[in-house]
Amino acid sequence: MTRRHRSAGGRLGGMRIIVDTDPGVDDALALFNLAASPEAEIVAIGTVHGNVPAPQATANTLRLLELLGLTHIPVAGGAQRPLAQPLMTAESVHGDDGLGGFAGPEPVTRPTNESAAEQIVRLARANPGELTLLALGPLTNVALALQLEPELPKLLERIVVMGGALNAPGNITSYAEANFWHDPEAADHVLGAGFPDLTVVGLDVTMEAHADDRWLARLAALNNPIAAYATSIVGFYAAFYESFLGKPGFVPHDSLAVAIMLDPDLATYREERFAIELTGRHTRGQLVADLRYLAPGSPFDRDIAKDRTPAKYAVTVDTERFLDWMIDTLTVAEP
Ligand code: RIB
Ligand code: CA
Repeated sequence: MTRRHRSAGGRLGGMRIIVDTDPGVDDALALFNLAASPEAEIVAIGTVHGNVPAPQATANTLRLLELLGLTHIPVAGGAQRPLAQPLMTAESVHGDDGLGGFAGPEPVTRPTNESAAEQIVRLARANPGELTLLALGPLTNVALALQLEPELPKLLERIVVMGGALNAPGNITSYAEANFWHDPEAADHVLGAGFPDLTVVGLDVTMEAHADDRWLARLAALNNPIAAYATSIVGFYAAFYESFLGKPGFVPHDSLAVAIMLDPDLATYREERFAIELTGRHTRGQLVADLRYLAPGSPFDRDIAKDRTPAKYAVTVDTERFLDWMIDTLTVAEP
């Protein structure tokens, strides 16, 4: 991970990012990683239902920005329910407050008056071709933004999504990953919208990037308030993952999406045209693609999403370099 040092009082270029998130313990860690990365500027944050109800995600985002001393970053509350199914949340994984029981007192800052979808559209129109959208939760806000502005794929420079499972089992069901399962219609709409530079960071790589008890010990040894808070909030989440995987540690799904956004060379990819299964009794929310090798001139035609714009799906990751990067960013993290 090439780390450039912040120039005196300024940024050495780098990415300008809109984050869409449902904090969520791993979302919180991802925010800490991002905040400590000089290559990136967080322009705005939108919140969405998923790990917790959207209002809780908004309060948690405000709390995290207060902890980081980044209260200048606008936070827009987003969709409180999926497009076409009842709200379902995951407090059993992230804690009732979404931050492992350590959310703390109510935030003193407030969200903006616009919705997360409106914020995405306004900023994309005002900064055509300049912004990266990082989606760490269900894609409801991004789908709504596409409804407001169908030209969004031409207005964003890039979109990076944490979601899906292609050659890996699901997590929330046998076949579906949580972000896509929480709003399958939204995920399918985004995957078919024609974003020219779409990267999907799914369970095929995030489950490989497991942070074990030795990593947790490295985190606990760091001496700064952000790292100390990270150690606190990760306890509940790691206990869930130990029960889920049968080994100590946890999976930093959203941090890996940040790392790959900042340094695409961390991973290797396959380019496919994707859809989401919407009607399968056992498979609703599954990420699907026609992975068959079809030789040129084959009499067979693609039978899934064949007219869609291809997306890059991460298939391998340099786990050691990623986990070291996480520690690095939490070492330099400063409120
Ligand atoms: O499946 C993992 C994803 O679902 C992560 O974004 C996690 O925060 C949850 O939202
Ligand atoms: Ca998330």
